[in-house]
Amino acid sequence: MSTNTKPALVTGGCGFVGRHLTRRLLADGYDLWLVDDCSTGRHPDGWLPRDLERRELAPGVIEYTGDQRVVFVFGDARDFFSGRLPLGGLTEPSFSDVFHFAAVIGGRATIDGNPMAVAIDLALDALCFNWAVRVQPDRLLYASSSAAYPVDLQGDGGAVALKETDIQFGGRLGQPDMTYGWSKLTGE
Ligand SMILES: NC(=O)c1ccc[n+]([C@@H]2O[C@H](COP(=O)([O-])OP(=O)(O)OC[C@H]3O[C@@H](n4cnc5c(N)ncnc54)[C@H](O)[C@@H]3O)[C@@H](O)[C@H]2O)c1
Repeated sequence: MSTNTKPALVTGGCGFVGRHLTRRLLADGYDLWLVDDCSTGRHPDGWLPRDLERRELAPGVIEYTGDQRVVFVFGDARDFFSGRLPLGGLTEPSFSDVFHFAAVIGGRATIDGNPMAVAIDLALDALCFNWAVRVQPDRLLYASSSAAYPVDLQGDGGAVALKETDIQFGGRLGQPDMTYGWSKLTGE
């Protein structure tokens, strides 16, 4: 049985970080909700523990039960935060921990080649934070990035081991890495 009374939420839970964290949270006894549009992520059918019982509550809403309960909601996290994603008859619960990972990422090629992804990332974060203020989860973890750090500390010749004090919100912010870095800095 789950040891936590309230579930945790992982947006972008089907991505690289989200899948690893999900397995860890299940081992730690969490019930979970995952929200992901699988734009780059992998559907949970392919990687959640096989011993969970699967029940499709509605198209795109799947409940997996075993020692823990996992609810997967397929869709855009912006719609989830706006209350526009169908939940298959479920009511959105009160969440304990929220891990907000949903973002357009794709590595260096996307950072350089798709700078307008910043619009989606800013919208995802703004809607997430507005939702969190409204529904008051116990805690929220925001995934920033090394791209938020000043580029002059990261280039050939000037590269140093980055530390959190290299971003000073009351002082030196520096120039983050492309629009992806700006979105992460804004999220912070
Ligand atoms: N992997 C890293 O090295 C790294 C480093 C620094 C920061 N981060 C941050 O950690 C988080 C997770 O990164 P990752 O490496 O797992 O990336 P990823 O691309 O593997 O995972 C992102 C997930 O978000 C989903 N997604 C994208 N847009 C969505 C939307 N509108 N609605 C719902 N789901 C959506 C994708 O389908 C994917 O499953 C991101 O916020 C990223 O910026 C990652």
